[in-house]
Amino acid sequence: MISPYPSLTSDEAAALIQHDEVIGFSGFTPAGAAKVIPTAIAAKARIEHAAGRNFKVGVITGASTGPSLDGELAKADAIKFRTPYQSDKDLRESINAGKTHFFDMHLSLLPQYVRYGFLGELDWAIIEAADVSVDGKILLSTSVGASPTFLSKAKKILIELNRYHPKELLGFHDIYELKNPPHRRPIPLVNPEDRIGTQRVWVDPKKIAGVVVSNRPDEVNHFAHLNDTTRKIGQNVASFLVAELKAGRIPKSFLPIQSGVGNVANAVLGAMGEHPDIPRFQMYSEVIQDSVIDLIKTGRVSFVSGVSLTLTHAVLQDFYANLESYQGRVLLRPQEISNNPEIIRRLGIISINTALEADIFGNVNSTHVLGRSMMNGIGGSGDFTRNAYISIFTCPSTAKGGNISAIVPMCSHIDHSEHSVQVLVTEHGVADLRGKAPRERAELVIHHCVDPSYRDLLRRYFKLTENGHTPQSFRSAFAFHEKFLETGDMRNTRF
Ligand code: COA
Repeated sequence: MISPYPSLTSDEAAALIQHDEVIGFSGFTPAGAAKVIPTAIAAKARIEHAAGRNFKVGVITGASTGPSLDGELAKADAIKFRTPYQSDKDLRESINAGKTHFFDMHLSLLPQYVRYGFLGELDWAIIEAADVSVDGKILLSTSVGASPTFLSKAKKILIELNRYHPKELLGFHDIYELKNPPHRRPIPLVNPEDRIGTQRVWVDPKKIAGVVVSNRPDEVNHFAHLNDTTRKIGQNVASFLVAELKAGRIPKSFLPIQSGVGNVANAVLGAMGEHPDIPRFQMYSEVIQDSVIDLIKTGRVSFVSGVSLTLTHAVLQDFYANLESYQGRVLLRPQEISNNPEIIRRLGIISINTALEADIFGNVNSTHVLGRSMMNGIGGSGDFTRNAYISIFTCPSTAKGGNISAIVPMCSHIDHSEHSVQVLVTEHGVADLRGKAPRERAELVIHHCVDPSYRDLLRRYFKLTENGHTPQSFRSAFAFHEKFLETGDMRNTRF
């Protein structure tokens, strides 16, 4: 059948976008992110700027994207505001220089912020698809993210029909959108593998302003290889979970796992897969990284529900070559469902996320380097941590060759407070903070998690102030950070 949609080049699509418009782009990590149209919009911005005209757009995505989207638009100075999560080097620089207005949000909240109108009107949805039918049924590619909401709320739609992704992806998505209060109903999902929605997103075909055909792989980076530190962190998490299983606090059938993003999270999952006493388990998570596919292949993971297939090129190619064997074992959902507090609490998710910094009382900073510079954003870590059955944070005990202690007297920025952080794990050990008062938490964290080169310093800090429920010294709480900025090494701190 002949397509009813205008076939456009990426430049023709970009020409439709006007200064000040707000765009919802597909993409949750570089997986499924729009690629050719945002790059063309960046080129248009450069031309407009050279002609002395303003050109910036509001950029809303599912989460981080790839260099063709965030990187190009940031380099072209074409972003009016950006939310909810990013990990691109150029965009990060622009945010930290105060040039791009970035606001960091819990990922589960983004779709409803758009539906409630909290972010203003959405002019465009620019969405990567594996297929689009003449009657407006869109098969998304390697991520769902917030695309269903962008598609329903945007005034107009542009589709990037990326031939890199096969049409046989049909069946890997479960699209379900929530109604706004007071019409919202309980989400009918009681097992990680339950299907509650449709395989494709349905839109009014009249809203589709054009289709740009492309053939571009997802721009997913490789992970750092395991090292002794990340391997040990992974083993400590696995041993902790085995002890919980033996104590009967985790049922014999185990509970679904959520695993965060990055090198440490990748290593932790690998270690869980290798531990002989951890039974085959399910995942109800967000980002499906390479390590999850390994675990499915070895039979250690029986099913994974996530938002995105964030796989490196070779792993995704292998996945596509064996698509049939993954049907029924991998399911992609909107971030509003994968990260939904109602579901996380109901399923009893064990959440495992990574901290940049934690303090001796168990508060966690996942986002701000030295309290000031944005790294990536909170992502879904808050959605899962606040509602998990057991919430775990992991991190290497030091950074930058030991010059930074990841455990400090007081976090320089707090994303997850002591009320939500139950277990802290480094390569040195596990601090189980459940049911512990602040003074007890400090003893446990210093004893089990801190690097030996910082233990005495933190003990001395803890003794500085005897009073209070949570003993703190205003004068010295940020002494580690100040000393690092002054000398480049927190070990030079003196209390
Ligand atoms: N102070 C300064 N820098 C620090 C630091 C600290 N306390 N701790 C780590 N770093 C630096 C590392 O040195 C490294 O820098 P480099 O890139 O220059 O080498 C960088 O931070 C990343 O560290 P790494 O150990 O490789 O971490 P990672 O890849 O496992 O990512 C986070 C860790 C915290 C950045 C990442 O997990 C994240 O963005 N989390 C927030 C969102 C989230 O949890 N999402 C999951 C929800 S489902």
